[in-house]
Amino acid sequence: MPIINYVEFNGKEHAVDVAEGVSLMQGAMDNMIEGIIAECGGCGVCCTCHCMIDPQWAETAGAATKDESELLEILDTREENSRLSCQVRVTAAMDGMVVRLPESQY
Ligand code: FES
Repeated sequence: MPIINYVEFNGKEHAVDVAEGVSLMQGAMDNMIEGIIAECGGCGVCCTCHCMIDPQWAETAGAATKDESELLEILDTREENSRLSCQVRVTAAMDGMVVRLPESQY
């Protein structure tokens, strides 16, 4: 399984196995990683699963859809590499990916 490196806002790192096809959000929830709330359960409507993909992995993660991008616009904390973690499905190519979690979701 690919290893995803979640990094909390305070620098605390969690390297966890996440099965292919599972979302980055679910991977964090399954491993009890703090920093993702996911109020809508992954329906893509709440923005409480905001994460930042490390720039070197942005291309691997792919681009946000128009709907996702519009949702991200409501966040004050949006960055260029922001994504909704429930909308990113893990693939084998993501092994080692670094995903940062915003302070606003604690
Ligand atoms: S969990 Fe609600 S938008 Fe991702």
